[in-house]
Amino acid sequence: MIRIFSDKTELTHAAAGLIVAQAEQAVRERGQFSLVLSGGSTPQALFSLLARPPVRAKLPWSKIHFFWGDERLVAPDVEGSNYYHAAKLLLEQVPIEAGQIHRMKGELPAEAAAADYRRQLDNFAQDERIWPCFDLVLLGLGSDGHTASLFPGSSAAAETTQPVVAVTADYEGRPAQRLTLTSPVFNDAGHILFLVTGPDKAEAVAAVLEGASAPEKWPAQRIQPAQGDVSWFMDEFAAAKLREFR
Ligand code: 6PG
Repeated sequence: MIRIFSDKTELTHAAAGLIVAQAEQAVRERGQFSLVLSGGSTPQALFSLLARPPVRAKLPWSKIHFFWGDERLVAPDVEGSNYYHAAKLLLEQVPIEAGQIHRMKGELPAEAAAADYRRQLDNFAQDERIWPCFDLVLLGLGSDGHTASLFPGSSAAAETTQPVVAVTADYEGRPAQRLTLTSPVFNDAGHILFLVTGPDKAEAVAAVLEGASAPEKWPAQRIQPAQGDVSWFMDEFAAAKLREFR
């Protein structure tokens, strides 16, 4: 599903509505809701909206488990950390227990952080699986077509067996050492929600959604859940170069 919004506020409210609906369905069917948060700047307004009335009252906070699609290998209390923003804007504002937060430990050395998160995923996985089928995954899109920390030309983007890998990536001067979930994990999710705004993403959006298949160049094309659904929520600027969806 592709939805194009006139501005980021409208998009953020619609994304909150989808999260509420997905949470209600997951709790009804499975008694809990596993939500993978994305990083970067786009989702920060959404985090704040979820924590405030009226949306706050609509979410089953004690039944939600929070994960991350990627993290920068920095301490959790610094600006560059994806956890830092989610904690300040959302997790510290709502009634949840520490056991509901499954943080990528950016303070650890890369391989230790990857091994730790593999353990966390294995512990939470259903039945004999080694990673969960997440109910909902939030993803962003870089102007270069990356998503999470799956960057063009990187082996991480092409990874098909390990659920978590450490990567080094230079993007917009952000912390380069990162940890990321891989496409097999994302593609086992029940629902993927891409949140994309701004004119700098327009070329990547058009290439990923309407261009030829070139996942090496546009890693977000690898996000194609076998059973799950994918929704793209974008503003007019990010959708500006789409031909079909206007
Ligand atoms: C990260 C994110 C990354 C982000 C895109 C878009 O750690 O940076 O997970 O994949 O979603 O780079 O970032 P913006 O929302 O800031 O444009």
